[in-house]
Amino acid sequence: MKAIVYHKYGSPDVLKVEEVDMPTPRDNEVLIKVHAVSVNRSDWEGLIGKPLYARIGGLLKPHNKILGSDIAGRVEMAGRNIRQFQPGDEVFGEIPGYHGGFAEYVCAPEKSLARKPASMTFEEAAAIPQAGVIALQGIRDKGQVRPGQKVLINGAGGGAGTFAVQLAKLYGAEVTGVDNTGKLDFMRSLGADHVLDYTREEFTNNGKQYDLILDLVAHRSVFAYQRALRPNGSYFFVGGSVATLFQILLLGPLIRRTTGKKIRLLAVQPNRKDLVFITELCEAGKVIPVIDRRYPLSEVPEALRYLGEGHAKGKVVITVK
Ligand SMILES: NC(=O)c1ccc[n+]([C@@H]2O[C@H](COP(=O)([O-])OP(=O)(O)OC[C@H]3O[C@@H](n4cnc5c(N)ncnc54)[C@H](OP(=O)(O)O)[C@@H]3O)[C@@H](O)[C@H]2O)c1
Repeated sequence: MKAIVYHKYGSPDVLKVEEVDMPTPRDNEVLIKVHAVSVNRSDWEGLIGKPLYARIGGLLKPHNKILGSDIAGRVEMAGRNIRQFQPGDEVFGEIPGYHGGFAEYVCAPEKSLARKPASMTFEEAAAIPQAGVIALQGIRDKGQVRPGQKVLINGAGGGAGTFAVQLAKLYGAEVTGVDNTGKLDFMRSLGADHVLDYTREEFTNNGKQYDLILDLVAHRSVFAYQRALRPNGSYFFVGGSVATLFQILLLGPLIRRTTGKKIRLLAVQPNRKDLVFITELCEAGKVIPVIDRRYPLSEVPEALRYLGEGHAKGKVVITVK
């Protein structure tokens, strides 16, 4: 089968189209013919090997040679212990470990998959898993957003941010979206009440405070985040620099004890229940999986470059013929 393969960390230029062996499903896995796979920042991080946590499993060179985790496709073959799916079923989900999806076929454990709604295209379904579940767990579960609360989403114009803005509005919050100059109108179109351009304004330094900050691209100090929280407010680190991550783990508990403000890491737990929940909101038209661009499999490098250079508004999806 054809796959987009890399053997060393680097720019999108290190990615090559190669003929590789088809994967064989284990007993608890299905083999899927991939029809669409979406691009996440986790793919970009896995490509360039930064932040350092993207090298877990392969410090000097990538352990998994094929990136891509959010797939939608048709079951081709089912492992011996598979009960819920059979060949021909249309499924989608996030493959654990962020790998394998930029290919014509991939194996995935049954428990990471859900049935693709008939009303959705493969591209729409592939756009949902990682970004949608991050947003759901950040806004509904950890953030416990209630009507009237002030919520700030840092990185609101990207994949997870696009879902998070819409969900926070659905739960009745007053939402501030932060992203670059080119995404301000886009964030407004998602429902953000206020938008901030991070290239011109620093949200931790403008005197405003929030009940919840969901940070998809954290790189400031914990003290800056503490400043931007209302009393009893919560900040969640979803992704960002390792320096900020360590500060949160080391100083977060201390800040909580002294100020009551909670500064924590959101460790996302992908699961079918949440995937189905956010997908039903999409089916009902309450949340839109926004697809900015579509690329063919051979253009995964261009798709990753587009996302990595910060142009993508919402999701970028690869259509696999
Ligand atoms: N915690 C977990 O369990 C877990 C699990 C999976 C993934 N993740 C992480 O979750 C994050 C999800 O990101 P995503 O897929 O939504 O990424 P994305 O689609 O690339 O969106 C990130 C957005 O942030 C913007 N941005 C960059 N620098 C910024 C800054 N300084 N201030 C404000 N906005 C900035 C980007 O635009 P520009 O670059 O153009 O400025 C982009 O619009 C990733 O960091 C990933 O590693 C975490």
